[in-house]
Amino acid sequence: ATTHVQLNNGTWMPRIGFGVFQIGNDETAAAVRTAIDAGYRSIDTAAIYGNEVGTGVGIAESGVDRGELFVTSKLWHDDHGFDNTLRAYDASLERLGVDALDLFLIHWPVPTLDRYVDSWRALERLLSDGRVGAIGVSNFQQPHLERLIAETGTVPAVNQIELHPGLQQRELSAFHAANGIITEAWSPLGQGTFLSHPALSEIARAHQVTEAQVVLRWHVQADRVVIPKSTHPARITSNLDVFSFELGAADIAIIDNLETPDEAGRIGPHPDTFAG
Ligand code: A2P
Repeated sequence: ATTHVQLNNGTWMPRIGFGVFQIGNDETAAAVRTAIDAGYRSIDTAAIYGNEVGTGVGIAESGVDRGELFVTSKLWHDDHGFDNTLRAYDASLERLGVDALDLFLIHWPVPTLDRYVDSWRALERLLSDGRVGAIGVSNFQQPHLERLIAETGTVPAVNQIELHPGLQQRELSAFHAANGIITEAWSPLGQGTFLSHPALSEIARAHQVTEAQVVLRWHVQADRVVIPKSTHPARITSNLDVFSFELGAADIAIIDNLETPDEAGRIGPHPDTFAG
């Protein structure tokens, strides 16, 4: 497992990024600084998070060269459409205080609006004008991806989707792999809900790492990009430290098996299996 992945246009992206979803703008600068100080070089934000300004302040204060950082933001629903998307990109740059993004994503397909192909054409334009490092999507299902590819011929570099042991998205991931799309997992830790699972604790003990490190390593060995988030500096640091141990096939099989819908149709380990 490598610390970076190569995207379909040849650019490189760090395997692990710091996500700032649900961090208030006032707290974001400090959180981003903590993450960059801990060694993160990829930061994932979005217009709708309302913290692009704080993200930009954290980046500026970090003292790390812009060229060493990989910055992602996302287009919100209100800004779909070709011209709107171009304007929204500039507005994100302005709030972040950067000249370009490394990755710009359509946040959701919003099929009811039916404008994501127009928005995608604007992202293609930004890419061909050399104004963005790479372009991709988020929360797209296979039919949305198929339509983009069929109508524009441009394959998204990544699809950022919810993916964790309770929601493994195997079919969509297989489609990504077949088309050279990197699978980027949001909520890679299942919002923390799995971390007390006894099966994970046992694997963690055996490798002398934390349950979060086990889950992140499971993602990495499946060739995914992940954006774990935490407000605790010690966790922010340890979540990046998943390149010095390796899960065996048996460990991986156990985690692969954690996706078990219960009798109520809920996905994820049955609540009774939680230790706490
Ligand atoms: P906290 O901010 O208190 O550390 P996800 O990235 O899947 O959305 O998960 C984020 C959640 O997981 C947050 O609630 C975060 O809580 C928790 N979390 C993140 N890293 C760890 C960790 N290393 N150990 C335990 N909980 C973690």
